[in-house]
Amino acid sequence: MRHLMSPLDFSVEELDQLLNLAADIEANPRKYAHTCDDKRLATLFYEPSTRTRLSFEAAMMNLGGKVLGFSDEKSSSATKGESVADTIRVTSCYADICAMRHPKEGAPLVASMASSIPVINAGDGGHQHPTQTLTDLLTIRSLKGHFDNLTIGLCGDLKFGRTVHSLIEALVRYSNVKFILISPEELRVPSYIREDVLKKKHIAYKEVERLEDALPELDILYMTRVQKERFFNEEDYVRMKDFYILDRAKMALAKEDMYILHPLPRVNEISVEVDSDPRAAYFKQAQYGVYVRMALILTLLEVKLP
Ligand code: NCD
Repeated sequence: MRHLMSPLDFSVEELDQLLNLAADIEANPRKYAHTCDDKRLATLFYEPSTRTRLSFEAAMMNLGGKVLGFSDEKSSSATKGESVADTIRVTSCYADICAMRHPKEGAPLVASMASSIPVINAGDGGHQHPTQTLTDLLTIRSLKGHFDNLTIGLCGDLKFGRTVHSLIEALVRYSNVKFILISPEELRVPSYIREDVLKKKHIAYKEVERLEDALPELDILYMTRVQKERFFNEEDYVRMKDFYILDRAKMALAKEDMYILHPLPRVNEISVEVDSDPRAAYFKQAQYGVYVRMALILTLLEVKLP
């Protein structure tokens, strides 16, 4: 039985297969409509979510399966003091696969060790968010056709942004991918990403503060929200929250084929006037999240493909 805790749980070849399956699902959705008729997905969300939970549920429904779960830990027995290990042990009796989001780093991993069904990490604190990365990879591949030789700019809260950590870990496995890490000093990537991932693998990267300086070089700009819920005090958040605002004037500095991705939700970091720019790919990206999660459910459940 396989779980998904980090994008590195799949080899590059396996990821390729998964993205190919997602692309086939996009092209031929009807073919897959009954592949999970007798299956159930549990969504155990101890932290707020719109896209991740709804796209998981839509994914399972599109496959003919059913969904159950909770979207707020206050409505679960966590408030009575139940451990995630006990919760998943019980959930294993009711469902065939589980997606779990938790504010504590490592909670889905603890769950996976007590589980008799596949557990998918749907975001653990400021750590990892592998299914967002699968979504991001499918989006980039659909827009650019490949990952090799791309210059990727990641902008905003690179410290607490779990989607950023997972995406960097996944992309360093392709050849000649360069990173420009755009953040205020206080929100730079954690040192384990800089030292153990980027430096150790000799990846070309630079860290800059001004978005304008990076924009002309980029093939992809990955914008992120300042992660309000991970700040220790409100003042620091207020000081940081509008550090970057991508608007039409700044987009004039970017290449004609530089696409903007954002895991969403967006707050102020992308002005709504940018939404109509043909390079704005973030809503399309949310749609890709359904196809890739369908592919992931089929893969982890080892469903015989039609
Ligand atoms: C992201 C997350 O939860 O980490 N959202 C998502 O899953 N699409 C990004 C964010 O909340 O800023």
